[in-house]
Amino acid sequence: MKFFVDTADTAAIRELNDLGMVDGVTTNPSLILKSGRDILEVTKEICEMVSGPVSAEVVATEAKDMIEEGLKLAKIAPNIAIKVPLTWDGLTACKAFASEGHMVNVTLCFSAAQAILAAKAGATFISPFIGRLDDINLDGMQLIEDIRTIYDNYDFSTQILAASIRSVNHITDAARIGADVITAPPAVIKAMANHPLTDKGLAQFLKDWDATGQKII
Ligand code: E4P
Repeated sequence: MKFFVDTADTAAIRELNDLGMVDGVTTNPSLILKSGRDILEVTKEICEMVSGPVSAEVVATEAKDMIEEGLKLAKIAPNIAIKVPLTWDGLTACKAFASEGHMVNVTLCFSAAQAILAAKAGATFISPFIGRLDDINLDGMQLIEDIRTIYDNYDFSTQILAASIRSVNHITDAARIGADVITAPPAVIKAMANHPLTDKGLAQFLKDWDATGQKII
């Protein structure tokens, strides 16, 4: 399973990247707003740091304008994945980008039917949003499972990029189902290291070690 970091915070990306935890990065207009930085400048910095795919999202809503924006974003670096929304215009732009050999991440996917269209349009990645489905009492993880089954039935090569991840359980469930990639905020990835029994066990070991009166160094 590949790990993408869902942020435009370069310090947070660097910390995880230095540990070899980062296979790619996803950004979106809200994350660019949160970073307070210029999209071209921050995306370039991320692409220089991370060798895997870095998703940069178009904001136009008509295919021809999306294509113009996407080609500008693709010029930032060879590892840009152009991110387009799952609309008919987005699928049109996806097909155009894919035909020219660009990586495309089709985002804002909320149904298996949408995921089929993205695969047919040549998407490199499909981004089903787990958390936002859970937010409205639908089952985000069921969508990942459905898309996995459908893509496997027909050998679609589009990679399932489980997005809108809010918890460690989202990551492990997506891994169990066989999502190809997860994209998660840095804090959720770091939280994967936490377990209360690890903390309790370590506290006991340190207490017992003190009682030995020994030193390693
Ligand atoms: C994915 O590419 C999106 O940027 C992201 O996962 C959306 O997550 P959110 O629903 O927590 O905003």
